[in-house]
Parts: sequence; C-alpha cells; structure tokens
Amino acid sequence: MQAARRSCAAIAIAITTAALGCRDPHPAGDSDSTGESTTGEPATFGPIGPLVGDDGRGSFRFGAATAATQIEDANVHTAWWLWTAPAPDGLAKGDFVGDASLGYTNAIADIDLLAQAGLGAYRFSIEWARVEPVRDQIDEDALAHYDAMIDALVAAGIRPMITVHHFSDPVWVDDPRDTACASGPSDTNLCGWDHPEGGPAIAEELAEHAALLAARYGDRVDEWGTLNEPINFMLAGYGLGIFPPGKNGILTAFDDVFLAAVRNYVDGHARVYQALKSGDAIDSDDDGVAAAAGLTMGVIEWVAARDNQLSDDPDDVAAKDRVDFLYHRLFVDAALQGAFDADLDGVLEEPHPEWAGTLDWLGVQYYIRAGVTAQPGLLPKIAATPCFGDFDFGSCVPPVDPSYHVPAMRYEHWPPGLYERLASYHAHYPELPLVVTESGIATRSGPRRAEVVVRALEAIERARAEGIDVRGYYHWSLFDNFEWAEGFTPRFGLFSVDREQGFARTPTDAVAVLARIAAEQEIADDLRMAHGGVGPLSPEP
Ligand code: BGC
Repeated sequence: MQAARRSCAAIAIAITTAALGCRDPHPAGDSDSTGESTTGEPATFGPIGPLVGDDGRGSFRFGAATAATQIEDANVHTAWWLWTAPAPDGLAKGDFVGDASLGYTNAIADIDLLAQAGLGAYRFSIEWARVEPVRDQIDEDALAHYDAMIDALVAAGIRPMITVHHFSDPVWVDDPRDTACASGPSDTNLCGWDHPEGGPAIAEELAEHAALLAARYGDRVDEWGTLNEPINFMLAGYGLGIFPPGKNGILTAFDDVFLAAVRNYVDGHARVYQALKSGDAIDSDDDGVAAAAGLTMGVIEWVAARDNQLSDDPDDVAAKDRVDFLYHRLFVDAALQGAFDADLDGVLEEPHPEWAGTLDWLGVQYYIRAGVTAQPGLLPKIAATPCFGDFDFGSCVPPVDPSYHVPAMRYEHWPPGLYERLASYHAHYPELPLVVTESGIATRSGPRRAEVVVRALEAIERARAEGIDVRGYYHWSLFDNFEWAEGFTPRFGLFSVDREQGFARTPTDAVAVLARIAAEQEIADDLRMAHGGVGPLSPEP
C-alpha cells in the first residue's frame, strides 16, 4: 500500500495532479476494522461515532439519504400530491409524484440496499402529512410503519437519522388551491408559513409533531435534523412559487411573504429543536448523547459575475457576499445567537432569545457552483441577482470545465466546492461539528457518479486534514426518486430505479466504490487514480 502511494506521488510530480486526478495530500496507514491504523498512522476516515461532543471528533459515518415525499408511494395528504396530481383533482404542476419510487411499500426491503453499499448510517424523513393527515388527528398505522422501519435499521446495525421536515407540508398547512386564504386560518388551511397568525401556529404544530416522533422513536433514534435546506424551501415555495404553495413573493412581496415565512420557519426550527431535546432523553446507543439535533443547509459555491462571466468588480463581489450571508448564515446565526436579521445587512437586530443555542451540529449539502451579479441587483434588500437555473440576467457563468455541467439540473457541479463550503462554515462556526448530510449528482453515468463520490470524499479528507471537524458523508440519494419541480428526469440514486419494470433497484458503479471506501475507511490509490482529482468528469451518456 505504501509503495503504491509513493508511486502515485511520483507520478503526480511528473504529470499535474489536476490532469491525472492522482493526489495523496495526507497518506494514511492501512486500517483495521476499528479504524486503528495497522502502520501506526491514523486512517483517513475513522469509525462511526457521536455526531456531537468531543468523543465524536475524528469519527466518520458513511451513509445515504432520502426524503419521504420523494420516495414513498401514495402520500395523498401532502401538498405535493395535490400540486402535481392531474386536473381536475390536482393542480397538474410538473410530473405527478404518484407512487414516487415505491419507497413506502419497500421501506424494509430497501434497508438491504444500504447494507449492499456497506453504509452504516441512513438519513430519512418521516412524512408529516401521513402521520397527521388532518390537523390534530394522528394515523397510528403510519407511526407503526416507521416504527418497524426503525427496528429493522437498528437490527441491521444502521444508524438512523430522522429529518423532521423535508420540503413537504400536509395540505392543511397551506392549501395551494387557496393561497389568498381570505377567510383566515382554519383547521383545513392554516394559510401558510408567511401568515401572521397561521405561520406561528404551523411552527407550533410542527413542534407537536416532533414531540410525538421523539416520544415514539427516541428510544432507538439519537440523531435528528429539524428542517432541511430552509432557505431553498422558502425560496422555492414562498419566493419563486415553484414548490407548493406556489407563492412568489421574491420581487413583489419580499418582506410580507418571503421574509415573514423565513422568520416563522426559523421559529419552527427552534421549537422543533426544543421538542426533540425534551422529548428524547434516551441515549439509545450508549455513546453519551440522547438527542443530537441539527439543521441541514443547502450550500452553493457562489462566485461574483457580470454579463455571464466571472467578475472582480467590487460591486459584484459585495453582492455575492450578501447572497452568501442570506444563503449560508442568516438561519444558522439566528439559531445560534437567538436573533433575526430582518434587513439582511449582516447584523442581527431583532432579538429572539428563545431561539438561542438551538443547534448541536450542522449538515452541509453541496451540489452547485453559481454566479451572483450586482448588475442588475434584482433581489430587494440585497441588491443582487443570483443564478438559479433559468433565472439568469447575466449572473450565470460557464462551468470551470464543460464536463461539470449537469444537464438534468441545468447547473454546474464543481467538486472542490464542497471543501470551500466546509472551510467557510468552520471559519465562521469553529465549534460546530459538520456532517455532509447530502451530496451527489443527477446522472445516468455510473463512472460519473463514482467520480463525484470519490471527489466529495477527497474534499472532506482535505478538510479533515486541516482540522475541520467533519463527521460523515451521506450520499444523495440512496436510489432514484422524485426530484421536486424537476420531476423524475434527474437520477440521483446510488441505485437506479426502473419505474416501468416493477420499480426494480439496480446498483450503479458508485455502489462498489463507496462500499470499498467505507470498508477500508480510506480512499485507495487505485480509486483516486480512476475517479478522483480535479480533472474532467465522465460525460453524461
Ligand atoms: C434536497 C433534496 C434534493 C437534492 C437534489 C437537496 O436540495 O434536500 O431533496 O433532491 O438536493 O436536488
């Protein structure tokens, strides 16, 4: 092994590491199953450990993630069902979610996929609309279903992490058929996260739901995510109107719709955090932590742009920094410091002491590099225009390498950006344990997915070598699923799903690669050579 490493390093001197994809920044010794090095040097990735606290430093979990709405069949009480179902019953927006990936029926069988990929951790969400289809009426069958699933995970030696809220509300939270909600909040329509009375009521309802999950599953689950990618969810549902409920306040009602919803959603996070912490007092795996509750943030490697090119104009750089703050820190600062920055100037002027300290760990979810321009600066308050898919106005820039373009999502996946985001979070919040709770790519190419897996782990390895406390990697996603507004075209799965052929699951090339890295707790040289580095990615077929 050491000889192989030396030869990799020697080759790298002759041919640039970037071109070859062969790098060995911090050689590690061979490791046994406990993560102890057999050559006296620490393995690159340690064994699984606690997500929070000093005992978990140096630990590492390999996992995969899913979300209920994206995989489960027959989630008929979600706003997504109504939003996508054919008319006249539904609003016929995009692909109909329908039976998604048949993930409810197959919930127990799918646990075997994690085992096949050698993964010791699973991040999944519980569908609020299934558990509480009507306000304050609980479906015991749904709770029993997730109970059995958690039992099966624990029996298989796979550590569960539950996301309480992942981009999906029951219809009664904000009925997309009646977003005007002229008669005010009611049990069948609370009028949405942006509503002055309905928003706080939804936050309270979500906290009650979290308390129920903690009471029911806390004896076997210690790891909890409150909300998933809060700014993305807010932008899509209350800013751009591309997710239910379909409110697009970003340009015309920034404060009253978008920011009002964000404020109530932060409040929802804090209440859920408190409900989880007080409801789950059982340390189920004896690692000293009964409930580790965190937040998973969607991150983007923003770059300053103008006229669809990179820009070093100070106005564009400042606009990029303002988007960076809104996107990456507004929510985290609010949860840590207990205050809100309603005018988005980077100073938290609105006190909310009840939010303070409601974050034990931070999830980082990386997919995208994208531009931001000040010219024009369309977003109110931050005078910036970020590139979001077809929302361009000169802010979108060409990819670093043409092969980094992801056609199914119309954005760029620049693998080293994951390191940049981890380093940035660590610089701002050095005490907060980080975990990559999602990263991956929409592709139909096995080699391309394997490259994205290895390069993400190389980025994490580099961060860890610099002392950044990153405790795991969950691939998004365990299998192909419903990609929200983009429907079923993007394929994010480690396992592909054939929806025409009985929803059959087939391993992609990345499964064996990830399984080997997880087993060896390091990236072997041949895997670096074949898939790693910063060269082009294999093309999309
Ligand atoms: C979300 C997932 C989504 C993935 C890929 C994240 O924004 O948490 O639900 O499928 O990215 O786009």
